[in-house]
Amino acid sequence: MPGTALITGITGQDGTYLGQLLLSKGYHVYGLVRGQNNPRLESVARLCPGIEFIEGDLLDHSSLVAAFESCQPTEVYNLGAISFVGLSFKQALLTGEVTGLGVVRMLEAIRTVNPQIRFYQASSSEMFGKVRESPQTELTAFHPRSPYGVAKVYGHYITVNYRESYDMFACSGILFNHESPRRGLEFVTRKITNAAAKIKLGLQKQISLGNLDSQRDWGFAGDYVDAMRLMMAQDQADDFVIATGVTHSVREFCDIAFAHLGLDYRDHVVSDDARFLRPAEVDVLIGDASKARRVLGWEPKVPFAELVTMMVDADLAAQQKAMRNEAAG
Ligand code: NAP
Ligand code: GDD
Repeated sequence: MPGTALITGITGQDGTYLGQLLLSKGYHVYGLVRGQNNPRLESVARLCPGIEFIEGDLLDHSSLVAAFESCQPTEVYNLGAISFVGLSFKQALLTGEVTGLGVVRMLEAIRTVNPQIRFYQASSSEMFGKVRESPQTELTAFHPRSPYGVAKVYGHYITVNYRESYDMFACSGILFNHESPRRGLEFVTRKITNAAAKIKLGLQKQISLGNLDSQRDWGFAGDYVDAMRLMMAQDQADDFVIATGVTHSVREFCDIAFAHLGLDYRDHVVSDDARFLRPAEVDVLIGDASKARRVLGWEPKVPFAELVTMMVDADLAAQQKAMRNEAAG
């Protein structure tokens, strides 16, 4: 029977997809929101009618305890993080505090308020980093290549540790890259689709990127939040890789995105811009989600090319709407 879910990171890409999914299943859903006046609240309320907001910050343990005491969740999904790898190199300590130690603050708050609360941790394929084997599974050793990846390894293992030490239902989804029209503009996929749409409409001429050769296993965020829900519905907590099993380069992403608009990416993309190169790179990720298929019955539904064109179409429509609004004054 659906219960009460609390989602951290509700204002992020995955937060609204998960909020919509849980509301559609009959859950009472709370979104944890930080700050005095979060500008993204309005769009979350529009996308997730019926959601309730509650204040709290992953940096502030007592705010988490107060949030759990107030809404008495049966399930907690920890999606909140500094999630941009590029930023994590510039703000390594803050990333460690939020993305790493934030997880133990959540677990401690659960232990204090009600250890029966089920906990989901948003682990990441970035933990595999300089990969030890391909494809990567739940048993592949980690070798993170960024402060973000290191913080996620801490979050992952502290979740395992609380499960083993305190018999808590604490699970981790090791999710590979997943994208959507709601993806932040700082991530390479949305940066490309947004720029391609603007170039098509004559609003800009080119886009500067970093490494076009890195490869990612990209899926659709809407498919991936369903895996989170399925993990939380198991009899026993466990960890699962969630991925498509197919990898593509940033260059291929550019090719499909621009071609969809009748453009050649080579006429518009400037590569190897030093501003977007990382001190250490993750060259190639590809996941093996056979355990999730077998145990959860989960599989991805949206293939790569459809994902890219979905994002391009959404950005084109948004830009055209903005132009119409501007013209109307
Ligand atoms: P996102 O769009 O960057 O959202 C991050 C969320 O974290 C935002 O809602 C942000 O809220 C919140 N946040 C930041 N600092 C916080 C703090 N101190 N206290 C509470 N909340 C805070 O990320 P996403 O793509 O939805 O990803 C969701 C989670 O999955 C993240 O943990 C990410 O690391 C992980 N993950 C993502 C992927 C992927 O490909 N998308 C893959 C693997 C794992 P504000 O509005 O307050 O900034
Ligand atoms: N952001 C960005 N901007 N990345 C670029 C650019 C650029 O201009 N040019 C090339 N890239 C390359 C990056 O160097 C990286 O190899 C790849 O594109 C993907 O970068 P991002 O889209 O920033 O994603 P990410 O793979 O580093 O991290 C995402 O996926 C992780 C899961 O593996 C984030 O969502 C993380 O939060 C998530 O854990």
